[in-house]
Amino acid sequence: MTDVFEVRRWDGAGRLGSLDVPRAGVTVETPALMPVVNPHIRTVAPARMADLGAQLLITNGYILYESEDYRERALEEGLHELYDFDGAIVTDSGSFQLSVYGDDEVAIDTREILRFQYDIGSDIGTPVDIPTPPEADRERAAAELATTQERIELATDLELGEMLLNAPVQGSTYPDLRERAGADARATGADVFPVGAVVPLLNDYRYAEAVEASLAAKRGLGPAAPVHLFGAGHPMTFALAAAAGCDLFDSAAYALYARDDRYLTVRGTEHLADLDHLPCPCPVCAEHGAEGLQALDETARERQLAEHNLHVSFAEVRRVRQAIRTGDLLELVEARARSHPTVLDGYRALLDHADALERTDAAGKDAFFHLSAESARRPEVRRHHERLAALPVEGEEVLLSEGDTNDSYDETWRVVPPFGPFPRALSETYPLTAEVPQRTDHAAQRAAARGVTALAEANPEVAFTLAHWDWPESALAPLPEDVRTTLLGPDEAVGDHGAEDGTTGE
Ligand code: GUN
Ligand code: ZN
Repeated sequence: MTDVFEVRRWDGAGRLGSLDVPRAGVTVETPALMPVVNPHIRTVAPARMADLGAQLLITNGYILYESEDYRERALEEGLHELYDFDGAIVTDSGSFQLSVYGDDEVAIDTREILRFQYDIGSDIGTPVDIPTPPEADRERAAAELATTQERIELATDLELGEMLLNAPVQGSTYPDLRERAGADARATGADVFPVGAVVPLLNDYRYAEAVEASLAAKRGLGPAAPVHLFGAGHPMTFALAAAAGCDLFDSAAYALYARDDRYLTVRGTEHLADLDHLPCPCPVCAEHGAEGLQALDETARERQLAEHNLHVSFAEVRRVRQAIRTGDLLELVEARARSHPTVLDGYRALLDHADALERTDAAGKDAFFHLSAESARRPEVRRHHERLAALPVEGEEVLLSEGDTNDSYDETWRVVPPFGPFPRALSETYPLTAEVPQRTDHAAQRAAARGVTALAEANPEVAFTLAHWDWPESALAPLPEDVRTTLLGPDEAVGDHGAEDGTTGE
């Protein structure tokens, strides 16, 4: 099989890509959201979803297979006709039912269910993987993984025409198992790689673990594989999931939440009854207002809420795409992280892997905005620190200063937290064009001090003096001993050089 996925632009591990879906004759622009369509509960018609921005949708092949109402129709008319949808249609296998209801209730044969998915005209089919839940022990996770892998291999041997194949990556909460599962799945030649069994994590807002699972799977899959985060349906998670390198999300949330009178926003979920004011400009909200929505009968309310939920979700997907295009995806993730502590946990987990994000990050992006203590751990800061060793230092006595230039040194470099030191000539070079607050934070100062350390260690023959605006001990203490430090202040001269007014400023 040839690769059907192409990455066009990177922002950290996040990317804009295109996924060719030959059987549907469409190319999907990613990141993309696929609404889940349950044939029995169609709150919003798939044709309407297409109007709202759905390029593809996902439905459960097993539900259709079991359904007296739909099985024959699906086989005769095909899924696209049955759903009146021209985009790509992904079918799931029923694995998830299997994991919820157990083997005894749900016996599904991969060959048979994939053949059925093919026969009803699915564009991307799924074998019967085993979604190992988060609390499973390692032995079970490993054994189930082996079965999943066998079924993926079996699936790649079937003659399924142009239908693409999903290869779910399992491994529960064991990063090494996830990584191996990713590598093994990729080696089969399957096309799309869903990170499986994260629904229990996502439902419980355990976003840090969901990020760890995605990143581990991606370490095995490599950067070229298209990745679907199975069950990521809340719009407040899309930026985070995209930043972790996930290309596809699926949302049942729009419908499930609507049924419970819940109103999705990018900052979290609200109960419709609690809302006096609607924060959303979508047609549903503009037309009805809070009181108007509350006054609708149950069926109409559910429908309208589901439409609003889809509007918000697709708008966030577009915002994510534009953020990657501009290069400020992590700024968007920070904004989302500031709205919900569980997203903040996810973001912090993501930054634990700044090295992985750095590897694929674009060389030049829109100005870096320092927005929080977390910004200090971003891959752009890391990259600058790694580059410091290669920058030529002119002279034997060098001042690194948050303040002005001082002529009694051979050279003065600027110091800007969280980046740390750099030659003045690089001030207009990305990422040193960063916008940083005047009232910086200790995390940024500690990061800047790490930069000073990197520079000093790379140039042991140079005597460095750091002139800073009152950095905390936690930033200064780890500096190498031979780096002198001096406090900037209204009346203070810099360094031991008696530089009364040797400053030139800029
Ligand atoms: N839907 C949500 N999670 C999963 C999963 O792990 N496997 C499959 N096949 N479908 C899912
Ligand atoms: Zn709305």
